[in-house]
Amino acid sequence: MATNWLPFLLSLLFLSFPISLQSLQNMYEVDVHSLMPSNVCSSPKDNKPRLRVVDRYGPCSTLRQQQGFSHEQMLSNDQSRVDSIQGHISAVSGGANKSDPFASSKTIAQYGGSFGVANYIVSIGIGTPSKNFTVVFDTGSDVTWIQCEPCQRYCYQQLEPIFDPSQSSTFANVSCNSDPCNDVGYACLGSSCLYGVRYGDSSYTVGYYAEDTLTIAPDVISHFRFGCGQNNNGTFGAVAGLLGLGPASESFVSQTSYKYNRIFAYCLPALSSSTGYLNFGTDSNLPNTQRTPIFKNPSSQFYYYLNMTGLSVAGKSLKIESKVFSKAGAIIDSGTVITRLPPDAYKALRSEFRKGMKQYKMAPSFSLFDTCYDFTGLDSVLIPSVGVQFLNNVSLDLDPNGILYVLDISQVCLAFASNRERNDLGIFGNVQQRTFNVVYDVPNGYIGFSPEAC
Ligand SMILES: *[C@@H]1O[C@H](CO)[C@@H](O)[C@H](O)[C@H]1NC(C)=O
Ligand SMILES: *[C@@H]1O[C@H](CO)[C@@H](O)[C@H](O)[C@H]1NC(C)=O
Ligand SMILES: *[C@@H]1O[C@H](CO)[C@@H](O)[C@H](O)[C@H]1NC(C)=O
Ligand SMILES: *[C@@H]1O[C@H](CO)[C@@H](O)[C@H](O)[C@H]1NC(C)=O
Ligand SMILES: *[C@@H]1O[C@H](CO)[C@@H](O)[C@H](O)[C@H]1NC(C)=O
Ligand SMILES: *[C@@H]1O[C@H](CO)[C@@H](O)[C@H](O)[C@H]1NC(C)=O
Repeated sequence: MATNWLPFLLSLLFLSFPISLQSLQNMYEVDVHSLMPSNVCSSPKDNKPRLRVVDRYGPCSTLRQQQGFSHEQMLSNDQSRVDSIQGHISAVSGGANKSDPFASSKTIAQYGGSFGVANYIVSIGIGTPSKNFTVVFDTGSDVTWIQCEPCQRYCYQQLEPIFDPSQSSTFANVSCNSDPCNDVGYACLGSSCLYGVRYGDSSYTVGYYAEDTLTIAPDVISHFRFGCGQNNNGTFGAVAGLLGLGPASESFVSQTSYKYNRIFAYCLPALSSSTGYLNFGTDSNLPNTQRTPIFKNPSSQFYYYLNMTGLSVAGKSLKIESKVFSKAGAIIDSGTVITRLPPDAYKALRSEFRKGMKQYKMAPSFSLFDTCYDFTGLDSVLIPSVGVQFLNNVSLDLDPNGILYVLDISQVCLAFASNRERNDLGIFGNVQQRTFNVVYDVPNGYIGFSPEAC
């Protein structure tokens, strides 16, 4: 039997050899199990981070005992965030209720971003003596805030004790008649400045704007301004609050410009079971950095805009008219999970990706995803590489964990989604950014990427 097959197998091997060699360069052979997070935390590289970044529901997180979202809930929250960024939901309005300033989300001014599922956390120190708090970091938000005692209406459960300003010798309120208050404030209560943020998924935080010493070891930043939230509720999980890394005037990046010169970088881990980092200052650049300009959008001071210019699958550039991208525009966001593409760009990507995945059994669509595969029983799979191009000839070859989103071994999906309208803003989301050192160099006007950084 075997001898009958041998010539055939040899000819097959011989004939297909040049072809498979060629295509292998643009394909990843992926161990199916390497796509699944493990229950054990691993730190693959010792990059001596300033702040260690972990997925808030993964095994490296101190919050891991918290129940994570289901995939369905998480992806639906992601869509709420995208809707809010794209302006599909109406801005929050309604007058401040001066007799009850902490009352509800009705009293909230809209300022920057949306919370959604911003799922990467770091630990920062606040107050004197400094106490550590676990917070989400988000380039799509500007105001930093933490829950504060005494809670006026409602504070959600968090891991660490809630920050108590009366225990800190350096705490002070930001006065009502000041520029910072004008930038974030909504109303004055006596001489205190009220702030409020409502996120795309209806989560909110309301309180007064304050300042205290912020410790990001070994650095100590005095008079750092943040929201002291006395009424907070939503999809915050058990984090103490949020570190706002957006570009607007009151963000962490702007407030610390005298120290870090508006330069920071992060690396988001490949899996929820490994760790990444967040660094500040000039040592954020790594060798092999590809740089694309930050586009200064005259109509928005929020978000980091960049110009997406193309896509490739298995090394082949897709034919997408450049106006498809330029009409929509795009931002890079650490808080949006799944990259959103203009409909015509997504269709081209999907079609070429499906061609490269023909040999695998398709699985049902799920939430944002319409291109899913069943890898049951397979040890390894061959998947086409996916490249994303940005202005200035920047071309990123995504990590396999930035191409596929694993719901389950029987449902592994292409981790991109289509926008509804042609002119909806494109968003380069955090799954696709995994394992790159992503440096935001605001004074020099670029975002840089270097691969395999964590
Ligand atoms: C303002 O808050 C007070 C106290 O909760 C409430 O009695 C009053 O009805 C509110 N006014 C408005 C306009 O919502
Ligand atoms: C706070 O975090 C820093 C840096 O991770 C650590 O060195 C310090 O021991 C922590 N402090 C407390 C009180 O846990
Ligand atoms: C800050 O303002 C809040 C709200 O008005 C007030 O409750 C608190 O006592 C003030 N704290 C300080 C230190 O002035
Ligand atoms: C907080 O939000 C949850 C839903 O996210 C809701 O069920 C709960 O009633 C809210 N609590 C308060 C006090 O508003
Ligand atoms: C970059 O994108 C914006 C839209 O966000 C567009 O107005 C601008 O012309 C683009 N710049 C270049 C150089 O293509
Ligand atoms: C863009 O990059 C490609 C491949 O890295 C290179 O061949 C090409 O010369 C570059 N073009 C420009 C204008 O730099």
